[in-house]
Amino acid sequence: MLTDGPVAVVGAGSIGVAWAVVVARAGRPVVLHDPDPARLAAVPGEVRTRLEALTAHGLLGEPVATVAGRVRTAPTLADALGGAVHVQECAPEQLGLKQQLFAQLDELAEEEVVLASSSSALTCSTIAGGLPGRGRCLVVHPGNPPYLLPVAEVVPAPFTSAGTVARTRRLLEELGMTPVHVAVEVEGFVFNRLQGALLREAYALVRDGVVSVADVDRVVRDGLGRRWSVIGPFATAELNTRGGIEAHAERMGEAYARMGAERGQRDRWEPELVHRVADELHGFLPPERWEENVARRDAALMALERARRAVDLPGADRTGPAGTTGECSLCDQHDRLTNTSAVRLAGATAGATRRSPVPDAGGDP
Ligand SMILES: NC(=O)c1ccc[n+]([C@@H]2O[C@H](COP(=O)([O-])OP(=O)(O)OC[C@H]3O[C@@H](n4cnc5c(N)ncnc54)[C@H](O)[C@@H]3O)[C@@H](O)[C@H]2O)c1
Repeated sequence: MLTDGPVAVVGAGSIGVAWAVVVARAGRPVVLHDPDPARLAAVPGEVRTRLEALTAHGLLGEPVATVAGRVRTAPTLADALGGAVHVQECAPEQLGLKQQLFAQLDELAEEEVVLASSSSALTCSTIAGGLPGRGRCLVVHPGNPPYLLPVAEVVPAPFTSAGTVARTRRLLEELGMTPVHVAVEVEGFVFNRLQGALLREAYALVRDGVVSVADVDRVVRDGLGRRWSVIGPFATAELNTRGGIEAHAERMGEAYARMGAERGQRDRWEPELVHRVADELHGFLPPERWEENVARRDAALMALERARRAVDLPGADRTGPAGTTGECSLCDQHDRLTNTSAVRLAGATAGATRRSPVPDAGGDP
């Protein structure tokens, strides 16, 4: 079975170059191909710049030249595929283009080579469904840039072989990535569905005059996002409420159901589902170690706060612990509004607040 050997990256744009950094940093050779000669010419400089930035932050374990030396460019697809054990396709998000490219890859690559697409939304079924070698095709969707956001969604089609999935997971782990199995080819996979849920609500709140754009970003940057950078939303619900996630669902489920219904969404947290989630969650966050895990979460937040104080965060110039302005950038608008949605919504919001049960302990994570 092919395991060692170079990775071929096909398409040398933002994600292609970033994948090359991931692979080379992990000690493997990587070959990039792009039909645009200008892109290929830019690769060595772009890789070096990224590696130098990682070094400046103490995140590269070897000299830049050693890591950069593992990256090669190839003028043809056939050249890039020679000896490759895994192909990571990073061409533009266009169905016809990816279909054609996968047909070429399937023809050129040796039988056991995995063909993975970085596609953000197109599924493997639509890209590779008609190919003789479709069993070795799947989507591996990274965050951007993958050398800083290690999660990679592994999204097989129903026809993808179990061996392909297993080999891909092993390689990703070896590259220092965190593979996440997405069992069904849902649009947006998981990363963009979660991101989309938050962004949809953020747009709606801004549209309805509830909050300014800057304040939405502040709530996420200094609140939700901070917590989510050390634990996920399920762990948050578990550790924010005495009694864990089941107590949280009991106290807050109705309020969240109303908020969802307001947006036409009717996905209640039924008790059976909550039990299932709690069972799985307690496998890695045992309830008997709740106090200890809360303390660990807080320790992680403190370490994070120390690191954050050392960096210049984009968009954080006018606010933050040392620079909170306290002003509401919507106030001008509020003054101008007389009979508008913002005014009506203020009433609606007050009504909603009256209806919301206030939890006696823990509360809304
Ligand atoms: N940018 C992101 O945030 C992000 C995140 C995750 C996944 N992705 C996915 O990664 C893929 C690449 O995105 P990107 O942002 O790097 O795009 P990009 O436009 O920066 O790069 C695409 C590259 O593909 C090249 N290309 C064009 N035709 C090609 C072909 N036939 N064969 C090989 N290469 C070809 C282009 O010359 C270009 O250099 C897309 O599917 C995208 O959805 C992007």
